[in-house]
Amino acid sequence: MKQEAHNFVEQLHNQSYEDQYLKKLITHHSMISDRGRQKESLNGAWNFGVDQYDTCLRAKWYEENYVDADGLSNPMDFEFDRWETMKVPASWNTQQEKLFYYEGSGLYTRKFSYVNHGEERVFIKFGAVNYNAKIFLNRQYLGCHKGGSTPFFIEVTGFLEPENRLLVIANNTRKPSNVPTENTDWFNYGGIYRDVEILRLPATFIKDFVVGLVPDGSYSQIKLDLSVEGIERDGEGEISIPELGIKLPITAIGGSASLVFAAKPELWSPDNPKLYEVKVSYGKDTLQDKIGFREIRVEGTDIYLNGSKIYLKGISAHEESVPNGKAITEAEIMENFRLAKEMNCNYMRLAHYPHTEKAAQLADEMGIMLWEEIPVYWAIEFNNEGTYQDAENQLAELIIRDRNRASVIIWSVGNENADTDARLKFMSSLALKAKELDPTRLVSAACILDHVNHVIDDRLAVYLDVIGANQYYGWYQTDFNHLITLFENSRPDKPVIITEFGADAKAGHRGTSDEKGTEDCQLDIYRKQVAVLGQIPYVKGTSPWILYDFRCPRRLHPVTQNYYNTKGLLSEDKSYKKPAFYVMQEFYKHK
Ligand code: GCU
Repeated sequence: MKQEAHNFVEQLHNQSYEDQYLKKLITHHSMISDRGRQKESLNGAWNFGVDQYDTCLRAKWYEENYVDADGLSNPMDFEFDRWETMKVPASWNTQQEKLFYYEGSGLYTRKFSYVNHGEERVFIKFGAVNYNAKIFLNRQYLGCHKGGSTPFFIEVTGFLEPENRLLVIANNTRKPSNVPTENTDWFNYGGIYRDVEILRLPATFIKDFVVGLVPDGSYSQIKLDLSVEGIERDGEGEISIPELGIKLPITAIGGSASLVFAAKPELWSPDNPKLYEVKVSYGKDTLQDKIGFREIRVEGTDIYLNGSKIYLKGISAHEESVPNGKAITEAEIMENFRLAKEMNCNYMRLAHYPHTEKAAQLADEMGIMLWEEIPVYWAIEFNNEGTYQDAENQLAELIIRDRNRASVIIWSVGNENADTDARLKFMSSLALKAKELDPTRLVSAACILDHVNHVIDDRLAVYLDVIGANQYYGWYQTDFNHLITLFENSRPDKPVIITEFGADAKAGHRGTSDEKGTEDCQLDIYRKQVAVLGQIPYVKGTSPWILYDFRCPRRLHPVTQNYYNTKGLLSEDKSYKKPAFYVMQEFYKHK
């Protein structure tokens, strides 16, 4: 009897119950190239429980101990299959009124059948879960992923049965040691909000392949890097690009292969988003992807696309819609890109975290260059090694996921971080990591400016190809004339992109140009901003903040905000364009 009492008490008082789960991290090392692969969807209605006190982890519900060692039934505080249902993928906040502000653990579970197709390896891919996800299959703990906006894969070969129970604990609790921290300027959605799919792979499969132009200014060499996993790590494969008449053998040694070959592809650009079918095969595995060939580089204070100077005519965007929260649809992404093109944009800043992979895939097709970013946002715990590992892992997952996307031209390692020694070490390490993982793209960050001395002066700039600069002269910096002083004082030796400027404006709210929160004030600030920015020779792009209004728990002004950040050039439902939209449309038309 004593033993039973001890166990019962132990699970109630164990405050370090989560430690054991956090030891088994799923990281970027788990990622697998999955473009063009057959996948079986696990999307749909899952059973869902709101587990505010993490009782599933504390009492190990996932073990499903319905009877004790003597076969006597145990009292149960759950019954998975009789819980209410939750749509996957979705942000739980938008699915039920009572969950709008919920932050904590959400328990997702569903069953699925499995019939073995022979000698295969089976993985489950999660497009993203905010913020961390613990995965259980058939009563076994498989691992934990941290990071709310990047995909992860988990091997389930050997754990599968004819009938399986998958259980996922998604926890979106904001924490100071997370990336981002507990303090951001956007809404904290929760849940399994991107696709969940099963991949069946041969015993030896292509784990990763990267293909693109060799960035040597010749536009006539293509490089392929391929890695394979499995038993046959030495062998022959093939790459084919039918439209270019390319069909070449590739030789893997010790699981990796590299090949450079001559080709003269039509170059990808926003005006000509040309994509080629590229097929890669090895052993019994084949992959195909639609690849755009282009070269992006910096020389002096200029940005060159395929050898021609460009100006990044952009706009910033969060990943959010009124009905779907962070689980935005392809139609909503295409609408955002169409609105950007209507504004005469050729570029977008996808802030402040990795948007869905569908965004870069659609931007490849629609011809929009992209800035993609990890949420190293504001006051990250720059002295915390675990936080650094989390940030670097999210960066690696983003780059591995999207490095075949022609539209992505810039990796950003963060936003608006105070220039301290700890931050410099943390973010310069991320910048170097980005270059190591992908030497073909530009690395940047949205830096804070020195508003005391009115100068662009951030120590991180040395590690960046392009300096991102957030400035709100006319709004947070109330004296607009200091913007002119800032540019007069600054001598950057590389291109500057004004990654944010703008002002709040409640849609339809009119007044005088000095009345903060009116469309007239926003309009006046935009007119002044473009009049100055257009004259600065080293400013090679702008992405005003922001395409449309978005939910924000920090914005409580009852008239002009009402829990929305209203710096959008459109209303939150994108049904209404504010007058400042047309200032950018005109400015970009003549750029
Ligand atoms: C900051 C920040 C944004 C924020 C914006 C604002 O620059 O990067 O995330 O929403 O300013 O204050 O509206």
